[in-house]
Amino acid sequence: MKFLIINGPNINLLGKREKDHYGSKTLDQIINDTNKQVAKSVTIDWFQSNSESEIIGKIQSCHNKSYNCLIINPAAFTHSSIAIYDALLTLNEVFITEVHLSNTNSREDFRKNKITTKAADSVIEGFKELSYIIAINSYLLTTKEN
Ligand code: DQA
Repeated sequence: MKFLIINGPNINLLGKREKDHYGSKTLDQIINDTNKQVAKSVTIDWFQSNSESEIIGKIQSCHNKSYNCLIINPAAFTHSSIAIYDALLTLNEVFITEVHLSNTNSREDFRKNKITTKAADSVIEGFKELSYIIAINSYLLTTKEN
């Protein structure tokens, strides 16, 4: 099972950002913990960028790779990026899970407007640093191939 996990702007600052919303672990700690906890059948490529253009390029690269599942936390681009939304819509063969470490529904009103989410097959929100492992295991449960 091949997963690509894309994280958007400011996710590289986890550990320093609002800990009540995002938890206290850094992105590197989350990556290490998640990689250790997944089933042996799982391989994960991790990618983080603060650039909308680079994120779109990474999404487009899925057309040449055999990922089963794309897990994406578009961060603030969730609320603004029609371009990322359009890129996600092209991925007909890949299951898409959108992840948010915080519960965006309980925060500022502008976070309730979600553009990229409409292209996702599923959404995981509010589990802080456990969000990625939950997203991976949820996909494995759905496919019953773990
Ligand atoms: C976020 C939620 C977004 O509203 C915010 O802009 C982020 C992180 C989350 O993981 O909870 O940067 O995607």
